[in-house]
Amino acid sequence: MQRRLLIVSNRLPLTIEKTDNLYIPRQSSGGLISAVEAYLNSKGKNNFTEQLWAGVPGVDREVWDKTELDESHYQFMPIFTSQEDYEHYYNGFSNSLLWPLFHYFPSYAAYEPSFFEAYLSVNKVFCETLSATIREDDVVWIHDYHLLPLAGMLREKHPNITIGLFMHIPFPSYELFRVIPKKWQRALLEGMLGADLIGFHTADYVAHFLKSVDIALKTTHDNKYIQWGTRQVQVDAFPISIDFSLFNNAFHQPEIQSLRKKYEALKANKKMLFSVDRLDYTKGILNRLVAYERFLQQYPEYIGNVVFILVVVPSRDAIAKYNEGKKMIDEYIGNLNSSMGSINWQPVIYQYDHLTFEELLALYTTCDVALITPLRDGMNLVAKEFIASRQDQSGVLILSEMAGASAELTDALLINPNDTEEIAESIAIALKLSPEEQESRLNSMQQAIKKYDVNAWAVDFFGELKKVKSLQLKFE
Ligand code: UDP
Ligand code: G6P
Repeated sequence: MQRRLLIVSNRLPLTIEKTDNLYIPRQSSGGLISAVEAYLNSKGKNNFTEQLWAGVPGVDREVWDKTELDESHYQFMPIFTSQEDYEHYYNGFSNSLLWPLFHYFPSYAAYEPSFFEAYLSVNKVFCETLSATIREDDVVWIHDYHLLPLAGMLREKHPNITIGLFMHIPFPSYELFRVIPKKWQRALLEGMLGADLIGFHTADYVAHFLKSVDIALKTTHDNKYIQWGTRQVQVDAFPISIDFSLFNNAFHQPEIQSLRKKYEALKANKKMLFSVDRLDYTKGILNRLVAYERFLQQYPEYIGNVVFILVVVPSRDAIAKYNEGKKMIDEYIGNLNSSMGSINWQPVIYQYDHLTFEELLALYTTCDVALITPLRDGMNLVAKEFIASRQDQSGVLILSEMAGASAELTDALLINPNDTEEIAESIAIALKLSPEEQESRLNSMQQAIKKYDVNAWAVDFFGELKKVKSLQLKFE
């Protein structure tokens, strides 16, 4: 395929921060950026002649122009929108309606018409900026829930272009989707069907989407292809993944080794639990802390002999539910550390900040147990990264059944995040798991991730996109 690839996501993969009058870019947080960036940087080169990434830069044009950018792997296409529209689109419709509802938090959802209007306006700005540069043979790859109407908008202007859409979050059961006002439901689904291929992480999300399309748009489909006007649109599952070799080979990198030594000293002869998530109510951070406290009560022999390194990455802090969540976590940790800790020991070591890649890898490879307990998660790449990084073949993953990753990582200790007793007991089991058992579980999960790594994920997606496009041409 000698064509250009245009990646489109709400956020550009870099966040620009001002330090000492200099504008320094760092990688944006989250699974979407990690995965797409890993694919673009991976060694398995694709056949696109050029790669561009369009998205909002988070700064104004003046700052953007002053920032030094590394465009060796792909070029940036910044999208500038009005601040007010952006807030209603991002904090409003995207993160106060779609995000909570699609993660099964209907009581957190806000149905505000002005949010919907702004959502459409910002999608239009994306459409217009892209339209100014699109060529008919470009492959456009749209990502996630912020941009559901975009494929439909682009299709109207460019009937023949190739568009793939990938959803990084769950698609909920129809019972959840139907609570959205009907007019908005139709705008979202019709917008999505402007794509030629719509990808989700799991077969369940595909089935939920098809059912919503069935009922809301009264279309026909055969579980894979939807007949939409004169076009056939394919819907399929592509479980997103990671650059396995990057994480696996990092074990012996000098900087990671030396950080590991530092963390090992901190750990001393204690056991170490570790978790890292963006601050988000979907991640079950509070449930995890409650279960950890329960574990310490049930198994007092671990008091003073275990430490929980809990890293929370700042996220969406302009939204009240996120702020409230942060306060509850801070308070819970404060109380737990003061009620159970002592001068010599703190049950939780807490960091509310980003980690560098080296810090993340050193923590993945120092801990005994990774404790990942989301109440709902589209996939959860942290789980896959932890498994891949354990080149030493030791360590245990405790993973929520509500994460998309649990469909593949079946050799983890799977838990229900609402079951405090089960999590507490699993921590005790994990800390006693024999080295042979740890190795055998890790090994089988590593093989699965290695086989379907981020490159295989993208190749699979583009392969299906090419097929559905040629299928459409046959029926023209
Ligand atoms: N991550 C990050 N910044 C950090 C720590 C971790 O960007 O300070 C990365 C982590 O390595 C992973 C991603 O954020 O690739 C989180 O992806 P996941 O699918 O687990 O959850 P999401 O944040 O997308 O909901
Ligand atoms: C999840 C979403 C992404 C988003 C990321 C970080 O992974 O699926 O679309 O980029 O969280 O959230 P943020 O709101 O900071 O972009």
